[in-house]
Amino acid sequence: MIKPIAGIQDAFSLKGLNAIITGGNRGLGFGVALAMAQSGANIAILCRDRQKAAEALAELKPLGGRYESFGCDVTDLASVRRAVAEVYESFKEINILVNNAGISCVCELLDMDEELSDWYRVVNTDLNGTVHMTYEVGKRMRAAGKGGSIINISSNAAFIVNKTQAMSPYSSSKAAVNHFTRCMAVELGKYDIRVNAICPGFTNSELSRHIPKDMFDYINRQMPLGRFGEPIEVGALAVYFASPAAAQVTGTCQVIDGGYMLSC
Ligand SMILES: NC(=O)c1ccc[n+]([C@@H]2O[C@H](COP(=O)([O-])OP(=O)(O)OC[C@H]3O[C@@H](n4cnc5c(N)ncnc54)[C@H](OP(=O)(O)O)[C@@H]3O)[C@@H](O)[C@H]2O)c1
Repeated sequence: MIKPIAGIQDAFSLKGLNAIITGGNRGLGFGVALAMAQSGANIAILCRDRQKAAEALAELKPLGGRYESFGCDVTDLASVRRAVAEVYESFKEINILVNNAGISCVCELLDMDEELSDWYRVVNTDLNGTVHMTYEVGKRMRAAGKGGSIINISSNAAFIVNKTQAMSPYSSSKAAVNHFTRCMAVELGKYDIRVNAICPGFTNSELSRHIPKDMFDYINRQMPLGRFGEPIEVGALAVYFASPAAAQVTGTCQVIDGGYMLSC
């Protein structure tokens, strides 16, 4: 069983822990990488764009931990298997897995092509990518017998249907990620592996930069707290979920969206 904290001092520290972050090279994933590195964790970034990963690693370097990147396409189980093996070869032990890699698309179902390419592209990344990583890392966490923390970056789109932009593959994938989170919390609890999800709303990143200006302004007006979130704010929540302070927290899907959902 995971020991409770004795006091609050150091309860939020990740000192000496090793974390894998998919898509940690930019956007929300980099916000999580930065927050975790500042909290003392060593970071393995898994992504496809190694040039962007090199820039991320250069930003982390002054923090003085161990930071590496590994090529990985989360949609491809063989690629995930290879990358996770490489990470373990280098880091020996992994304590934290953040399933952050994700894509979206704006398209109504009936307007998709005959192959439903958009549907499969999003589901294969956002849902199946999370499953692939959980399978490969979860098995190794179980074998190591030291527990662990898995954090799935979901979305508030898991709960609401966005009327301004049609994105059923995205919302459906994220809703499934939330339920997968709850299923895994129950299945992996006996191995002291905690599984939680973070459900951000509109957050500044490459993905949100494509929102047209008038829609961007409209969304900000709808937001009770009046602005988009920042990746580091998602990182702060991820640090909490990964830390000893959250030893009794599993199966939670926490929204962080400036109150946007409340005004839908
Ligand atoms: N921004 C928002 O407003 C917002 C709101 C709610 C939830 N989210 C969630 O936050 C997560 C990150 O989004 P973001 O806004 O930071 O997007 P982003 O800036 O577009 O970054 C997407 C990240 O996912 C990685 N990725 C995509 N497909 C991949 C694949 N097949 N294999 C490996 N890595 C892959 C990318 O790596 P490469 O650079 O190697 O392609 C990149 O690091 C997503 O799960 C998204 O759904 C974002």
